[in-house]
Amino acid sequence: MSNEPSNSTVLVGVIGGSGLYNLGGLTVNPETPWGYPSSPITIASLPPGIPIAFLARHGTQHTYSPSSVPARANIAALKSIGVKAILAFSAVGSLREDIKPGDFIIPSQIIDRTKGIRPASFFEGTSVVAHAGFGDPFDGKLTSWLMQEVRKSLKEKNVDLHVDKCVVCMEGPQFSTRAESTMYRQWGGDIINMSVLPEAKLAREAELSYALIATATDYDSWRPNEAAVTAADVVKTLKKNADISRHVAAVVLTDLHAAVAEGGILTDSIGCMRSAIVRPA
Ligand code: ADE
Repeated sequence: MSNEPSNSTVLVGVIGGSGLYNLGGLTVNPETPWGYPSSPITIASLPPGIPIAFLARHGTQHTYSPSSVPARANIAALKSIGVKAILAFSAVGSLREDIKPGDFIIPSQIIDRTKGIRPASFFEGTSVVAHAGFGDPFDGKLTSWLMQEVRKSLKEKNVDLHVDKCVVCMEGPQFSTRAESTMYRQWGGDIINMSVLPEAKLAREAELSYALIATATDYDSWRPNEAAVTAADVVKTLKKNADISRHVAAVVLTDLHAAVAEGGILTDSIGCMRSAIVRPA
């Protein structure tokens, strides 16, 4: 029997952030050693006959705050159904004047401000000592492929895409102070969210390819003569952007399954599970 993936193999998983809660389809709810995922996984047919797994990061009723998302269960559940590549969506604040609310961003770097606060490893509490390479936190090949596809899909909507940016992942639930927001800009941060970690770290440990499509909803709190961000600002832009996010997802997913199945757009040996377990010689 061939081990080649067929059209019926679920290869691509989508993690929807605030504003992207559903793509429709059949539902599975795998229990993992880390519990149940934040939502059942729906297997959507996008395009018809091509299965795409969809998981709502904050739950279908938005019941998980960024700090309480069961990220280990989410990644383990997607892996358990065969997913090889994860496309994550997230709302972000902008730390740069040229990244306007409504713009899309595909980042290439992360600054972690959640370290030590959220469980960020499958190996925590086990006797296994493992280290994962995380210098390039997003899969480079997948990200390059996405840049072209997302750019095409946004062109017809007249929406700007920014690439090769650095996302600061902060602990919520409060937004940043003006001083923090200014400091993140000095550190080289371009956008800010509360959700890309530990998701990206866990995907790396699980040897899954992972990329982020972010939507800017606000200018955070660094602009001296403007009001600091509020939850209402975020929700307002998210609502305006939801249709565009769905359009981008539909366009990109149409080709992503085929590209993953053909091979060549995922970086080889990105992971660590087997390769980085440290043992005495
Ligand atoms: N998500 C959307 N906007 C944000 C902001 N300004 N800070 C953190 N997370 C966000």
